Amino acid sequence: MVLDLKDAESYDTIYIGFPIWWNIPPRIICTFIEAYGFEGKTVIPFATSGGSTIANSEKVLSETYPKINWGKGRLLNRATEASVRDWLGK
Ligand SMILES: Cc1cc2nc3c(=O)[nH]c(=O)nc-3n(C[C@H](O)[C@H](O)[C@H](O)COP(=O)(O)O)c2cc1C
Repeated sequence: MVLDLKDAESYDTIYIGFPIWWNIPPRIICTFIEAYGFEGKTVIPFATSGGSTIANSEKVLSETYPKINWGKGRLLNRATEASVRDWLGK
């Protein structure tokens, strides 16, 4: 288990963040997703990068894990607390 996520079942929406490597999420993100499954849950990816957009990562994730309800992802390069709060509506 890469991360002991307590009560994963009790969450309807899960945000997963990662740095983009080779235009896709690092393999450990797949290990994490496969450890929990998240089938039927809404999962929203967010990422940092050196310039790549999140589009290919979203494509790969949604194709690899089609039983997850993938929400629109977000690139958070140079994000501030205010911009993240604005994105989350918090
Ligand atoms: C192995 C590796 C592969 C990377 N591949 C990409 C890439 O394909 N596209 C990109 O824009 N940035 C790429 N990067 C840059 C990382 O996305 C960037 O360093 C990271 O998002 C910044 O987060 P950090 O400040 O935590 O390092 C790569 C970095 C590493 C180490």
